Amino acid sequence: MLTFNTLLTLPPFLLSSLITYAYARPDGVIGDEKGPSRPAYATALTGGEGCSSSDIDDIRDGFSDMTRLLASAVPFDSTNQPAKEFFGSSILANYTGMITANLQRAANYGILEGGPGAVNADIHIRCDDPMKTCDVGNRREGDHAAYNIGNDPHVVFCSDYFKMEDLDKRIDRKAENQMEQDNLMNYYNRAALWVRMVMHFSDIGEAVVERATPSPVSIGSEWTAEWTVNVAQGAMNTSVLAGVLNERPDGHDDDQTLKYAYGATRSKLLAVLSTQMPYDAANNAENYALYALAQYIIQNKGFYPALPIMDFPNEASVLTNENLQDGERVKYAYFDMVDVVAKPPDMELKGAPLPSLASALYGTHSAVTGLAVAGAIYWSLLSSIG
Ligand SMILES: *[C@@H]1O[C@H](CO)[C@@H](O)[C@H](O)[C@H]1NC(C)=O
Ligand SMILES: *[C@@H]1O[C@H](CO)[C@@H](O)[C@H](O)[C@H]1NC(C)=O
Repeated sequence: MLTFNTLLTLPPFLLSSLITYAYARPDGVIGDEKGPSRPAYATALTGGEGCSSSDIDDIRDGFSDMTRLLASAVPFDSTNQPAKEFFGSSILANYTGMITANLQRAANYGILEGGPGAVNADIHIRCDDPMKTCDVGNRREGDHAAYNIGNDPHVVFCSDYFKMEDLDKRIDRKAENQMEQDNLMNYYNRAALWVRMVMHFSDIGEAVVERATPSPVSIGSEWTAEWTVNVAQGAMNTSVLAGVLNERPDGHDDDQTLKYAYGATRSKLLAVLSTQMPYDAANNAENYALYALAQYIIQNKGFYPALPIMDFPNEASVLTNENLQDGERVKYAYFDMVDVVAKPPDMELKGAPLPSLASALYGTHSAVTGLAVAGAIYWSLLSSIG
């Protein structure tokens, strides 16, 4: 409640905050206008092309939710139930160290300004869909709620992102609903989507890349090619379920056959089907998002939403059952397309200088306007009390 005493302190507060807004962070960093409810992170969000100020708030709040989600997922414990379900085959194949490091790097987004620890690079966020990818999906296979450009810290937020709920609201609501509380995918929210996005950054998510290259061998007097598989490290994308990504130069890629592993059903299938490579689960950004989501619910609600359970008589029954593979009705991605698109050579990675929220509201040379607005707010407060 406003008392006369607090009212007396209002004008300086308003003035200083308005002036700070007008001149804050001329390097294109989006200022944090929400005050104490959202901490100041060491990693800044930049850019904001095509975003309204309320979009920017939703993106910043989602980032903040993500840091809390990831805090519950580190250090990685490979023995718990969600770890087995989302990374089982990868843990068995000794990729635990890679998973642990990926989660820890992502969790470092929680480091506050001036705090200790390895600070991740700033993230360029935008809403202008520069790669025209937000609307390429369809009703059945879904739309991307966000996508990454070039495995850089560069994320485009699509209209579906702004319909997603915040972390705690979503989890509280679903945990109370007896019909919905057991299914992990019901809890999917903007923080989980953010995790999927940051895992695509080459500085955060490390993945295993296997490439087959032909090398000449002689059989009798004939020369022929033998395929050699090289293993390297690369940026994390979205793994493909029960599809064969044909990278051999003599074949042709058949994108129609690819089933990208979004959602809890497909992510869990990556970790159990013998037709998948053992690193597929550890290579899939969504598996990290869902693992973190499960850990957060366990720690905050005391139970694990274990559905969907991967319990089927034989693998063939899964591989031929499209409905089972599709799983979720509500989709947060276009299931037929990877959510990482290549960066065009002429596109700037760094977020362009951006007027802060207040200067967008009050004009760019707005210290004077700011004073006038502060005065007006002061007088309206006075008259509303008087
Ligand atoms: C995993 O590592 C352990 C210990 O280093 C080793 O004994 C085992 O053979 C490895 N397993 C695989 C699948 O590489
Ligand atoms: C992910 O995509 C990028 C860009 O196409 C590629 O360089 C990288 O090797 C891919 N990662 C994996 C694990 O295949």
